[in-house]
Amino acid sequence: MVCLGNICRSPLAEGILRNKLTNHPSGVEVDSAGTGAWHAGETPDKRAIRIAKKYHVDISGLRARQFNVSDFDEFDKIFVMDQSNERDVLALARNASDKSKVQLFLSVNPSSRVINVPDPWYGGEEGFEKVYKMLEAACEALIIELGTKEKSK
Ligand code: 4NP
Repeated sequence: MVCLGNICRSPLAEGILRNKLTNHPSGVEVDSAGTGAWHAGETPDKRAIRIAKKYHVDISGLRARQFNVSDFDEFDKIFVMDQSNERDVLALARNASDKSKVQLFLSVNPSSRVINVPDPWYGGEEGFEKVYKMLEAACEALIIELGTKEKSK
């Protein structure tokens, strides 16, 4: 899961998906990173921690890190939160295989009408609530997709 700072959107996506995966053991590994390094080593934003806690998801133990080219080797999918993150990550891709791993996260949810998870950094608590709901729906859609793929193997 990749956003800009790795303190708001992507740690929320990581936490929500991790939480769902505990109920659907799958061997899937989840991590998150930011395209920028400004917040490396920091905990998620307090507002992100708070909204996650409201829904019984604990992201307080996560620490921000910068996306690295080696992530293309470590992971099968690189989910980006918005088209700006998508451009930044694609700029680091070394080949067509790297590029093929990059996907806008909301596109996993067939019922989502928006393609970008809005950056809640400059807004208020209600922005975090909205982002949480979008990420929750996308994580649920991803879990269903993972389940479907498992069954069709
Ligand atoms: P995120 O939000 O990309 O969802 O973690 C942001 C966090 C920090 C900044 C921008 C966006 N910043 O400019 O420091």
